Amino acid sequence: MSNVPRKAHALVAGGLGVIGRNLVEHLTAQPGWRVTALSRRTPDFETAARFLSVDLTDADATRAALADLEDVTHVFFAAYQEKADPHEQVAVNLAMLRNLTEAVDASAPTLRRVVLYEGAKYYGAHLGAFVTPAREDDPRHMPPNFYYDQEDYLRARAAGRPWDAVVLRPDVVCGFALGNPMNLAMVIGVYAAISKELGLPLRFPGTAECYGRLAQVTDARQLAVGSEWAALKAPGGEAYNLTNGDIFRWNRVWPAFARHFGMELAPPQTLSLREMMADKAPVWRRIVEKHGLVDVPYAQLAAWPFGDFIFRCDWDVITSTTKIRQAGFGDVVDSEAMFLRLFREFSQRKVLP
Ligand SMILES: NC(=O)c1ccc[n+]([C@@H]2O[C@H](COP(=O)([O-])OP(=O)(O)OC[C@H]3O[C@@H](n4cnc5c(N)ncnc54)[C@H](OP(=O)(O)O)[C@@H]3O)[C@@H](O)[C@H]2O)c1
Repeated sequence: MSNVPRKAHALVAGGLGVIGRNLVEHLTAQPGWRVTALSRRTPDFETAARFLSVDLTDADATRAALADLEDVTHVFFAAYQEKADPHEQVAVNLAMLRNLTEAVDASAPTLRRVVLYEGAKYYGAHLGAFVTPAREDDPRHMPPNFYYDQEDYLRARAAGRPWDAVVLRPDVVCGFALGNPMNLAMVIGVYAAISKELGLPLRFPGTAECYGRLAQVTDARQLAVGSEWAALKAPGGEAYNLTNGDIFRWNRVWPAFARHFGMELAPPQTLSLREMMADKAPVWRRIVEKHGLVDVPYAQLAAWPFGDFIFRCDWDVITSTTKIRQAGFGDVVDSEAMFLRLFREFSQRKVLP
């Protein structure tokens, strides 16, 4: 983008996650951005970003780690911890955002904007059917919901300060990252590879109803480009849904997946991925050896309960992208092409056969 400030310094919290890693890759490839990324682990790949290992749940450690970052201009908050208990989820995720924001606020008077990532769970997508297409100003569901606490905290904190906040709400982010099993492209890719190894056709493992419903996803690359737009060009203080900008039905894309994997397509057969895939580590080991794949622990490959959740949505899952388009970000990604590109990328990187 043309109007990157001369010394824009991005601080990406959660720089090894599916959102953060793809954002770091995008920003480091743009002229004019300096990128510092945070996570507890350190990267096992080449990157032009400076990675700092810090536990954001520890306020003192966070302040100490960020003390010399005096010229951060933009924070992208994509750190995240999954907790089954929603109260615990609020506590840990709010603490990480608060610790980071307060540390940056203390060290960097240059801060201009914080971009916070939420998702369709803002609208209650995890609770069941919700009003669609969901609009940014739709009423909230009954709390707790950690997004509400994070957003309210950030808005209150920004008041009277030289920085503001922009909220992005992607849905089902698909992109390359390892050790982050909540990645739908990997769920489908690993499920397909195991089905193929067992001589089975490719069957949609969710409900027949879900197979025909409208769905949407967000390409992590599209989100990265949209995040740069959110940092530099979006009207501040606002929330925006950000998806691929297209919608699809699983029954339209599943045949293309079968062709891609060289498998026969068969009608859906509803099963619990959580239960049925639990004992498939030995099959995966065979696949790894046969195809010389990177040895990712089976438990970190694919979040089967996440797949069960997505493939059992017997209702449309659509958020409106009118607001973000009207505000100036109108990029569109073909979701079927995105899935096929990711399957190819995972194969080239020797993660999938
Ligand atoms: N993935 C999706 O489909 C999706 C969809 C919509 C919205 N979202 C939202 O987007 C946000 C980011 O999600 P994501 O999927 O990108 O997450 P993710 O892939 O699980 O990555 C989370 C990142 O946070 C870091 N992290 C976790 N605990 C940390 C700690 N104590 N200190 C420092 N870093 C820590 C992790 O690295 P370490 O483990 O190395 O610390 C990792 O880099 C979340 O709010 C999520 O709800 C995600």
